[in-house]
Amino acid sequence: PGTEYDTDVLIVGTGPTGGAAALALATYGVRAHAVTRWNWLANTPRAHITNQRTVEVLRDLGVEAEATKHATPWEQMGDTLFTTSLSGDEIARLRTWGTGDDRIGDYIKGSPCPLLDIPQPYMEPVLVSNAAARGATFGFNTEYLGHTQDDTGVTARLKDLVTAREYTMRARYMIGADGAKSQIVDELELPLEGELARAATAYVLFHADLSRFVEHRPSILHWLMTPSANFGEIGMGLLRAIRPWHTWIAGWGYDLSGPAPDFEPESVKARIRGYVGDPDLEIEIESCSSWYVNQAHATQYSKGRVFCGGDAVHRHPPSSGLGSNTSIQDAFNLAWKLAFVIQGYAGPQLLETYSDERMPVGKQVVARANQSRVDYAPLNECFRTTGEADPVAAGLAKLRDPGPDGVAVRDALTEALELKNYEFNAQGVELNQRYASTAVLPDPDAGEEQYVRDPQLYLQATTRPGAKLPHAWLLGADGQRVSTLDVTGKGRLSLVTGLAGRSWARAAAKLDLPFLRTVVIGATGAEDVYRDWARIRQIHEAGALLVRPDGYIAWRQPAATWDDDDALTQLQSALAAVLSAD
Ligand code: FDA
Repeated sequence: PGTEYDTDVLIVGTGPTGGAAALALATYGVRAHAVTRWNWLANTPRAHITNQRTVEVLRDLGVEAEATKHATPWEQMGDTLFTTSLSGDEIARLRTWGTGDDRIGDYIKGSPCPLLDIPQPYMEPVLVSNAAARGATFGFNTEYLGHTQDDTGVTARLKDLVTAREYTMRARYMIGADGAKSQIVDELELPLEGELARAATAYVLFHADLSRFVEHRPSILHWLMTPSANFGEIGMGLLRAIRPWHTWIAGWGYDLSGPAPDFEPESVKARIRGYVGDPDLEIEIESCSSWYVNQAHATQYSKGRVFCGGDAVHRHPPSSGLGSNTSIQDAFNLAWKLAFVIQGYAGPQLLETYSDERMPVGKQVVARANQSRVDYAPLNECFRTTGEADPVAAGLAKLRDPGPDGVAVRDALTEALELKNYEFNAQGVELNQRYASTAVLPDPDAGEEQYVRDPQLYLQATTRPGAKLPHAWLLGADGQRVSTLDVTGKGRLSLVTGLAGRSWARAAAKLDLPFLRTVVIGATGAEDVYRDWARIRQIHEAGALLVRPDGYIAWRQPAATWDDDDALTQLQSALAAVLSAD
């Protein structure tokens, strides 16, 4: 094979992983071509919860405002409700997605970005259209058939499904963003650990105006305790708002060993009317489908010049809303590394760090999402009394019993709801990723990280290498607030120091690297007027941080450095190590 390339990076898949990879690569000036076998993007809502780390990615890539336009705003994501039907008894409410009085401050403090609810058919066009506008190319109706790789590139076999023509494409690298049934993971024989299809859920997308039931208590998730929706780990029916408050999904678990779910329009409508508690509700059903609960992750994400990400390498249920979030963050981790290697700023060794960094995240996400399903059991115990003709009515009666039995159930309910914070207010799960790889140089004096609060529930902001740069508001050049995340990132490494860090600034100026910027916090455009940065930076004002394009800290020197030569030597050796460029 020759070394002529049709594109630099061939991306198989245009879902959240492929779309984000194409957008980031195009933004960084790398040629990327993405293919999908379909004629367009996601046609069912699927992922929607978009957590702050992901909105930070959108912000860095300049599409946060556009995504926000298509999203249900954070405040409407609201409380999660447990009722017997939308018009029936309300049994419990859980403040969710950080919107509760007790948590909102943590979330606002932890990131410049809100959470958003963006169903996939709205998110994917934002990623893909902006990628295309920035020069990425796309092949719709294009099936990926297989590939070979050698020392200089990857040759993929593709088929144009419109003309049935088969052809090959040559790329330097390939990304397998081909979803939970990934052919590329199979071809590479990446080891998968865990279990596929351990349970199943039916999903019905429908239109009905439910405003009168929900407008006064906005929530994108309603769990319904009905005698019929009692199967599986969650054991409740689901109504999920897609477009408030007229487009919804109804979901319920079904037995994989039994018959397929009954999708006859009349029985589906009867079920939905039961969930809503309105026997006359007008309903238009758009589509019915079912999906499996997986609990599996690949223990290695790449082989040679092919890198897999997203559902291809972590397969898990939607509980905790981590799927597309993790997928987009995989892509963001990988894209700058590919760009740096292709542009000659880093050695190919840097690419190995993608799997080293993201695999542990994927493994943890798969475990968390599945645990979040298991954690419904204590709630179900409070809501139902098994063995009764109507277990829900009997459960409710017990819950309202003024005697000691009732007290015990109500106490159990308080605890059962606490446990659900690990699904619905898990700021730490969403924001506390820590990377360990050759692209992160540990601070030798820092010791093991100790978490001050529960690491799943609370963000621990730190400048330890491997953590994401903490967010703090600064005074921007035009008098507006800018985040520490705004003055870094955007495809470049950042050397972050303070007004006193002049040796660092001079060292960076001397190196004059196109991929490195200096950020002097305290100088015009990044003034620490709130003194927030001073409070959280954990380094001397004349110390330094090296922040990667994905916002993660690669290296830090906590101590003041006043000597120019010393600063230069330290910076050079940190850069060489982080970029595997010797
Ligand atoms: P995805 O499956 O989206 O895309 C795969 C792509 O590969 C497609 O473009 C496909 O056409 C293409 N492809 C595959 N094989 C091909 C071939 N041979 N040739 C050409 N193209 C090929 N996540 C989340 O973060 N929050 C949430 O709230 C939810 N909720 C949720 C609900 C439900 C019901 C489901 C089923 C899933 C979720 N998720 C979620 C998960 C989320 O949908 C999922 O994690 C992402 O879609 C994964 O994105 P990927 O891009 O990795 O794969």
